[in-house]
Amino acid sequence: MNASQHVCCRLQPFGESVFATWSRLAAEHGAVNLGQGFPDFDGPPEVIEAAHQAMQDGHNQYAPMQGVPVLRTAIAQSAGEQMGLDVNPDTDITVTAGCTEAISAALLGLLNPGDEVIVFEPFYDSYPASIAMAGGVMRPITTRPPHFGIDLDAVRDAVNNRTRAILLNTPHNPTGHVATHDELKGLAAIAHEHDLVVIADEVYDRIVFEGEHRSIASLEGMWERTITLRSMAKTFSMTGWKIGWAIAPPALSAAVRASHQFMTYSIANPLQHGAAVALGLGDSYYVGLHRDYLARRDLLCNALEQVGFGVHRPAGTYFVMCDHTNFGFDGSESFCQHLVEHIGIAAIPPGSFYSNPEDGRDLVRFAFCKTMPVLEEAIRRLSLLA
Ligand SMILES: Cc1ncc(COP(=O)(O)O)c(C=O)c1O
Repeated sequence: MNASQHVCCRLQPFGESVFATWSRLAAEHGAVNLGQGFPDFDGPPEVIEAAHQAMQDGHNQYAPMQGVPVLRTAIAQSAGEQMGLDVNPDTDITVTAGCTEAISAALLGLLNPGDEVIVFEPFYDSYPASIAMAGGVMRPITTRPPHFGIDLDAVRDAVNNRTRAILLNTPHNPTGHVATHDELKGLAAIAHEHDLVVIADEVYDRIVFEGEHRSIASLEGMWERTITLRSMAKTFSMTGWKIGWAIAPPALSAAVRASHQFMTYSIANPLQHGAAVALGLGDSYYVGLHRDYLARRDLLCNALEQVGFGVHRPAGTYFVMCDHTNFGFDGSESFCQHLVEHIGIAAIPPGSFYSNPEDGRDLVRFAFCKTMPVLEEAIRRLSLLA
């Protein structure tokens, strides 16, 4: 019997997520898991305590559809400061089940059947599935090593009269590229010229090592046409809470809310109270986050270089893309299979992040959102490759 026989045709092409596959293989082989991008440490204890307290205080029933006021106020304040914009907590913020729901809610709320969305590949794997679920059509634009920059001419060529949105991820998973001011200005000009919406996935906005993260929404005239998406997951090392949010002017928030209200309606109430405390931690928290991730990035990247990988050191995020071709394997799947079985490290072959998996055959993605002892153990094992 075909295990996917009941899956609708929109979702048939997608199969099991690559993260589930490689986390399972990691467990089977007792490998250090540098595959899936979840931290192996907890977020700030005062945030966890605040969620406990919220449960004790009786915040245990449905939250408002758009999110609890205290969290929306905290988001509006911190995002407003960061973007230099006046963000209204009542009309401009919608709290979602992680950024993943925010991506789907934005696409489901915006797209009519056949509308096209420009996406930069390699992409976060929910993008093509979410576009398909919304009845849209993905228009991928491939970014290439070593810089994985945005080719604005390719974007101009991809736009046509069906184009509705540009789905931009910066800092970018998996390449670590942080969009430059010129790239953002170029995208903004295209969005203006063709009346496009930009969906800006900024879940790694606080994990930047080189350059500067800038929200496209903060560029002149872009607030009106941008939906900015963020989440607790990466910034506060709370991937399991699944608290994310969309920031957008009222007309675009209406699109997000139109679908969100019928997908999840509202999000875990006590966790939203915890998230509000997280956003109030202030700059010293972000300084520590940056310092710790910089140390992890450099430790792993130096070791990867030493054993012979071509390392595309990321300017942001907690992932590093490497060229594995020095090791002589026939593509990234067989390289990752060898790595998990014989070296004891799980990594991600990035083929499923491309519309044509062959574009990822020379590359492998490692995550460094792990404690130093775990990274050191991985590095000890990596020496077996040399
Ligand atoms: C680019 C990008 N967007 C969104 C997400 C999902 O965020 P969340 O866990 O808040 O749903 C991830 C998680 O890996 C990601 O890398």
